Amino acid sequence: MKKIIVTLMALSFVGLSSSAAMASDNIDASKIFSKKCKMCHSLDRKKVGPGFKNMNKDPQVLLETITNGRKMMPKFKKKLSSDEINAMVSFIQAQ
Ligand code: HEC
Repeated sequence: MKKIIVTLMALSFVGLSSSAAMASDNIDASKIFSKKCKMCHSLDRKKVGPGFKNMNKDPQVLLETITNGRKMMPKFKKKLSSDEINAMVSFIQAQ
């Protein structure tokens, strides 16, 4: 009996930790875009900054620019987690 309880506890723990991992994989890049980027960027045309579609596709450049900013582009190092910044890089590359 005790063994069964321990097994159940272990299973529910695995369940919990995998749903936590899901949550971090589930960052909604389009929501971040609407909240934090849309005032200066459009998906396909130039606003204050370039449209996402016309940006550099080099992940290194995108990552660096979002993290540390460039000229008018604010830095997001403290405003977004590194997972969120990575999600934005993939989001831009997908446009
Ligand atoms: C205050 C306005 C502003 C906001 C807000 C803003 N950007 Fe920018 N962004 C700019 C400007 C202006 C540039 C062009 C910088 C330059 O002249 O080098 C730029 C450039 C960039 C570049 C570089 C593009 C390239 O081709 O090298 C990336 C990537 C980028 N922005 C991503 C983002 C993301 C992602 C967000 C939201 C999390 C965001 N920006 C929010 C103004 C903004």
